[in-house]
Amino acid sequence: MSLAKLPKIELHLHLEGAAPPAFIRGLAAEKGTDLSQIFTEDGSYAYRDFTHFLSVYEAATSVLTGPEEFARLTTAVLEESAAHGVVYTEAFLSPDFCGGGDLGAWREYLAAIQEAAAQAEAQNGIIMRGIVTPIRHFGPERAKPVAHCAAETVGDFITGFGIGGDEMAGKLKDFAWSLDMAREAGLQITAHAGEWGGAASVWDAVNDLKVERVGHGVQAIEDPALVDHLAETGVVLECCPGSNVVLGVFPTWESHPIEKLREKGVKVTVSTDDPPFFHTTMSHEYERLADTFGWDDEIFAQVTQTALEAAFCDAETRATVAKKLER
Ligand code: ADE
Ligand code: ZN
Repeated sequence: MSLAKLPKIELHLHLEGAAPPAFIRGLAAEKGTDLSQIFTEDGSYAYRDFTHFLSVYEAATSVLTGPEEFARLTTAVLEESAAHGVVYTEAFLSPDFCGGGDLGAWREYLAAIQEAAAQAEAQNGIIMRGIVTPIRHFGPERAKPVAHCAAETVGDFITGFGIGGDEMAGKLKDFAWSLDMAREAGLQITAHAGEWGGAASVWDAVNDLKVERVGHGVQAIEDPALVDHLAETGVVLECCPGSNVVLGVFPTWESHPIEKLREKGVKVTVSTDDPPFFHTTMSHEYERLADTFGWDDEIFAQVTQTALEAAFCDAETRATVAKKLER
């Protein structure tokens, strides 16, 4: 089977970060907003480094101003994911960008996203679940209303709580209040760590926050004791190698540690993070993994099984996704 057709699970995808540049340019034109500075001449997103990426990301997001825009975005993103064989996806959703942390507004955005996701499932068979996400560099105080939004809307669709944004801003511990609220509401927890903050940040995530999964986590490779700990405890890494290479966390695919981590028994999964920003898709990630590390159908099947077991969903959904993988 071609790698594009292989059924896939994606656990780490930022909904706004998956917005095609043409989609954002179209919305900017509709609203008369000048976003020309965030695009290259050939129409891609333009940024210099990670910090600049975050500000371009936020500028792009500024034209997503209502539930209708997020519904259209969800439809476009899920269509693209399904075209690359994704049968189940978890998307980071940010109340900060969907109503500014106001619960009433968040409910409206969420209803629109969920309706679009239900239509995509009916049309393309792709199942989506949402991970509510405070933005680390917006600070712990702004995370509190986000946690409240998450706790009030936990259910079949909103199943997780994660922390994205600039890992070098503050300490993960500063977000404990919000994470505790989310966990007590029944949400499963992931946090971006070990993308920029080194092995120490992954230790913080597993020790202080007791996360089930780590967003990226790949800098764990710097610390053999941490690699052993991850392998022993079964904490799952949401690896996004294409994102890491484009942002310069690792200089090349060959130097990316996903294969070393897998060989050492760490549970790794594969995702795109923000696909158009990094000129990637799930098929592209698979192709590069096959070319660089010789991953074959058996390894892809193992990694997909890991993702299935680590998915933040109920048993019924997991069984439905398992059936989709059999085909
Ligand atoms: N938000 C969107 N993409 C991100 C990334 N790669 N790291 C942290 N926050 C993000
Ligand atoms: Zn991410």
